Amino acid sequence: MIIAVDGPTASGKGTIAKALADHFGLPHLDTGLLYRAVGRQVELTGGDPDREADALAACAFPDSLLADPELRSEATGGLASRVSVHPAVRRALYERQRGFALQPGGAVLDGRDIGTVIAPEAEVKLFVTASVEARAQRRFLEMESQGRQVALADIAADLAARDERDRNRKDAPLRAAGDAALLDTSDLNRDAAIAAAIALADEGTSRP
Ligand code: DC
Repeated sequence: MIIAVDGPTASGKGTIAKALADHFGLPHLDTGLLYRAVGRQVELTGGDPDREADALAACAFPDSLLADPELRSEATGGLASRVSVHPAVRRALYERQRGFALQPGGAVLDGRDIGTVIAPEAEVKLFVTASVEARAQRRFLEMESQGRQVALADIAADLAARDERDRNRKDAPLRAAGDAALLDTSDLNRDAAIAAAIALADEGTSRP
């Protein structure tokens, strides 16, 4: 069984994907981390994230980079979004994601184009959304708990810019697959969002 979880930044898709993987006993891949590693590698090698050739060269990042805590930063998220517009980068990362999706027994993948490009045949497709306000508030609280001071308005502006770029790129833009179930987490806490996702996935897996 393949479960595809797509959605914008801070929608809760990562938390939901992990919970679904636990619930169904499946391996999980956060595909955003691959794009983040490419963005970070461009930075480390002094390349230009907006140049396709530099971004493509960075796709050969060492696996050890996936453990770099800097990958989780907002700055790296922005770089990831910039390198992800290049078709050559998306092609270079395709096999790794596709191979993960096709492993025997199934898998859960979260990202932007899992249900549309990486695993269009997925039995369960969720598109997780939340208002910009709700997502900015979550990021704000997360950063505050890490002792970082960032203005809520700046976080909201960053999120909106990233959404805009991810939704409007030509190759594999962020969008819900026609057969995806929509889950709006704006008014749901973590547990309620997970429960709703499990209910939707159960519905999908019981479909004939
Ligand atoms: O999910 P995330 O915030 O870690 O993703 C970082 C960026 O990577 C996101 O802004 C766009 C890109 N991305 C993508 O283009 N396709 C994916 N499947 C996952 C992420």
